[in-house]
Amino acid sequence: MQVTSVALGTADVALWLVVRDGLPEVVHWGAPVDGDPLTAALASDPPRAFNGMDSRVAVSVLPESRFGFLGLPGVEGHRDGEAWSPRWQVGGVRVGDAVVQPGEALVTGASEVRLTAIDPDAELDLGLWIELTESGLVRIRAEVTNEGGKPYTVTGVTPRLPVPGRATELLDLAGHWLSERSPQRLPFAVGTHLREGRRGRTGADAATVLHAGVPGFGFREGEVWGVHVGWSGNHRHVAERLSSGRWLGGGELLLPGEVRLDQGETYASPWVYFAYGRGLDDLAHRFHQYLRARPTHPTSTRPVTFNNWEATYFDQRAQVLSDLVDLAAGAGVERFVLDDGWFASRRTDDRGLGDWWVSPDVHPQGLGPLLARVQERGMQFGLWVEPEMVNLDSDVARAHPEWVMQVPGRLPPEARRQHVLNLSIPGCYDHVRNALAALLETYDVAYLKWDHNRDLVEAGDATRGGRPAVHAQTLATYRLMTELKALKPGLEIESCSSGGARADLGVMAICDRIWGSDCTDPVERLRIQRWTYQLLPPELVGAHIAAPVSHQSQRVSSLSMRAVTAFFGHLGIEWDLRQAGPEQLRHLRDLVDVWRSIRDLVATGDLVRGDTAEGLLLTGVVSTDRSRAVYTLTAVEAQAYDDTWGRIALPGLEPGRRYVVRPRLLGIPTEHAAALAPPWWGLMGEEFTGGEYDGGWLSIQGLQTPHLLPGEPVLFEVRAVDRLIPD
Ligand code: GLA
Repeated sequence: MQVTSVALGTADVALWLVVRDGLPEVVHWGAPVDGDPLTAALASDPPRAFNGMDSRVAVSVLPESRFGFLGLPGVEGHRDGEAWSPRWQVGGVRVGDAVVQPGEALVTGASEVRLTAIDPDAELDLGLWIELTESGLVRIRAEVTNEGGKPYTVTGVTPRLPVPGRATELLDLAGHWLSERSPQRLPFAVGTHLREGRRGRTGADAATVLHAGVPGFGFREGEVWGVHVGWSGNHRHVAERLSSGRWLGGGELLLPGEVRLDQGETYASPWVYFAYGRGLDDLAHRFHQYLRARPTHPTSTRPVTFNNWEATYFDQRAQVLSDLVDLAAGAGVERFVLDDGWFASRRTDDRGLGDWWVSPDVHPQGLGPLLARVQERGMQFGLWVEPEMVNLDSDVARAHPEWVMQVPGRLPPEARRQHVLNLSIPGCYDHVRNALAALLETYDVAYLKWDHNRDLVEAGDATRGGRPAVHAQTLATYRLMTELKALKPGLEIESCSSGGARADLGVMAICDRIWGSDCTDPVERLRIQRWTYQLLPPELVGAHIAAPVSHQSQRVSSLSMRAVTAFFGHLGIEWDLRQAGPEQLRHLRDLVDVWRSIRDLVATGDLVRGDTAEGLLLTGVVSTDRSRAVYTLTAVEAQAYDDTWGRIALPGLEPGRRYVVRPRLLGIPTEHAAALAPPWWGLMGEEFTGGEYDGGWLSIQGLQTPHLLPGEPVLFEVRAVDRLIPD
């Protein structure tokens, strides 16, 4: 037998593959090591299991049952009960443009491995892409083609990578509306930890990144491996532990009969992303760097945004909006977004959804006058839409009841008084596309806030006997977003879904940011963002300064607390500024200016999260050349036992380099702060000058905390002092 091997590697990650029996097996995924895949394979092959198979159980990236693998197969499907266990015969293997010869041992850097295979008996073809990106992310996708005369139903394609036995803990995310991405930890026990998303959208409770790591892994320490499915429809993340090993994997979750291939048809799986890191920050950087390297990544300075939703809700009176336009411009806003309620009969949330024409009731002269005012004040104009949804009380639903997703004879339960429009029906797609295109052609809209406010329940296609259509709907949505962007170059789209329920790398291949959550309470929001960063870099996470009394929790918080929470994101304002006094408006403007001075750093630097005590949150961004950083420290509760929180490390700085650390007060009067400050803050007149320290000391030992008032953040600005050393 000729064994082919491919060793891919970046500075931080290695992925070693061998092709010997069937599809490629991964013999190492993790930190770079000396050696080669063949030696690793020999070193790893287990003895025959007692009372197990008499031959080697090969487990590839798409595990095959035929070798005796007893976990979740990589490709699941059947032809009316037949051809259900494929036997893939590998054809060609390519790495980049080069063909890898059988028996060759290729060693290379970040590259894409492309492999074809056939199963002549099952009459199936397989295309497999395995890529190690420059950022050290591994991504895998597959295409299954039916070559047979009878239809082949695909029920799942679930790529898998192995993790070592020392990965004994799992961590993934969960949550609900207003509480997206809440972390949960559990032991990596025998069996399957299966996180299914059946909402037809990513979901506020999505696993997002399912991790396995060494005991106690944290943000800064501990080896950890993770998987993310880049798909906005139904999906599954899997951590599987059998007596023979442990794997992470994921893929699309297909509903019964949803993908039925006629001869010559192909199912293309979404990309499944795998990330390895030393600590969760390192792992998250793989995603962040990957996203930032895309040609489509928003590279322009992120504009300060105003959104009128929490300011006025459905109140679209001209005077109210124009007052807000003026106040927003005064606060330093650069993009004004008009939220729900501007169209058709949509004065409340039970009607008008789906009718994408400007309401003469609230905008008798169209959107022109408001748009002109926004642009006169030097701001871009953005608009809220929810193209996949419909109220039954709308022109479109009355004219085309068959466009509403349903199974035969009944509608699914309403949610948020709305239903789902089936964009996989060509006529429906064209209707929505043309309405949105007309808006973009009439008005200079720079930004769409694209919402998706309900789960897909019994999401069948009424024009096709009620067949499930979540897969087709997801593809149609991606296509619609892509087409509108092509129509209007420069158009940015925000992925919003009742807050942050559509945050995945499928939709983010097209969109320019997400709305982090409908929860704008800064204390809650700090935690939501902290875990959203596990997948997305801060510049892609919309974060707004809302009213002093939270509309969601009724918690009262200071302006500096609300602002600092938005600093590590794409900052905006979502507050009725008519209620803010002159002093608050001045303070707001100052804080917006602070963000403007750091926003490019936030959008390009490495995000760091401190492994701090419960109740204390440290978040920072360090420039990639390590010359500059900014950190905030926030206590969300009082210290219960000790006088202070002690010394706290400022991670990510370069050992051996000197840094000046300057505390910056964001609202607390200096005389008050002086009573809270530790000596190193160095009070000089009205200013704290801070101190100069070695990067190694700062990253590992750190500096004494002040007496932190709960909910009153402190900001540290850090700059390297690169003196020329005289010889
Ligand atoms: C969703 C969004 C909000 C707002 C409303 C409008 O809930 O998350 O930000 O746009 O819809 O109906």
